[in-house]
Amino acid sequence: MSKKVLITGASGLLGRSLVRQFESNGWEVLGTAFSRATGSLRKVDLRDETSTNRLLDDFSPSIIVHSAAERRPDVVERNETETTRINVDATTTLAKYTAKHAPRTSTIYLSTDYVFDGTHPPYAPTDEPNPLNKYGISKLASERAAQRHDPSAIVLRVPVLYGRVETLAESAVTVLLDAVARVKKPAVMSDYERRYPTSVDDVAVVCRQIADKRLVGSDSVRGVYHWSGPDEMTKYDMAVEMAKLFDLPAEHVVANKEPSKGAPRPYNSQLDTSRLEELGIGQKTSFRDGILSLKENLLSKLG
Ligand SMILES: NC(=O)c1ccc[n+]([C@@H]2O[C@H](COP(=O)([O-])OP(=O)(O)OC[C@H]3O[C@@H](n4cnc5c(N)ncnc54)[C@H](OP(=O)(O)O)[C@@H]3O)[C@@H](O)[C@H]2O)c1
Repeated sequence: MSKKVLITGASGLLGRSLVRQFESNGWEVLGTAFSRATGSLRKVDLRDETSTNRLLDDFSPSIIVHSAAERRPDVVERNETETTRINVDATTTLAKYTAKHAPRTSTIYLSTDYVFDGTHPPYAPTDEPNPLNKYGISKLASERAAQRHDPSAIVLRVPVLYGRVETLAESAVTVLLDAVARVKKPAVMSDYERRYPTSVDDVAVVCRQIADKRLVGSDSVRGVYHWSGPDEMTKYDMAVEMAKLFDLPAEHVVANKEPSKGAPRPYNSQLDTSRLEELGIGQKTSFRDGILSLKENLLSKLG
């Protein structure tokens, strides 16, 4: 089977890493983007079923890694209808395509630990989801749309991501560094919800390994999988650790022990990753090593 991958959301935080990972492992890659479709990225509005299908027919991918989404919980709370169009309807379009062309083509759909309520960690892929906010609800609806339209679709749930950024605000992890660097103001950080910051490069390796396995046979990998970084941290822990690694003062970083405001968030949605590890799939970078490897990129983005 040909090694052709279509990566949606290729201009995004994870998508950029996915493109690098697949390209450097012998895959022919077509990355799609929307407002940031520059260079070799193809512009497509995934809410437009006709143009999306035209693109799919032209490229004829063996794997689609569907990373495009609206993933900011507070934006989703305010824009439910628009979110459904990009998160659920676009996923449906892709899943219908892969179902029609199965087993030659399949989808890896990126989802989130926010499908869980965070009361009973760690969560196995078979555990019952119970999202607390509209983002989690929309991602769960997308997972179900993917699997309903294409029963052989693969769902990969991951927690909060960090990686090489265009701006620090692109990741809920690196945005903390902005506040750390502004030493004149107290930087109040949540020290309540437990998080598992995960390197986009690790997730990209996992997606590529799943895709390689899927090419061998459609039964070798299907259904829901989890991946996660190894370290349990609050946002306060991440901020203090980044300050330490980059020799920045941390005296003004203040721990907030109360639940976060805004869209409700799970307390601890730790993902059990053993299902993928049993397949010999995975790469887990410690927060310390992952952040240190980004030092130049992150420090260059400080205002
Ligand atoms: N970031 C996290 O912490 C996190 C955590 C758990 C799960 N996830 C999941 O991982 C995936 C990747 O997240 P990310 O952080 O890389 O997202 P991101 O940086 O916000 O990127 C979103 C991507 O979606 C594209 N997009 C948005 N609307 C589109 C449309 N109408 N048509 C075509 N493309 C569109 C954007 O293109 P343009 O920018 O070019 O418009 C961009 O490439 C998502 O499915 C997300 O739910 C993310």
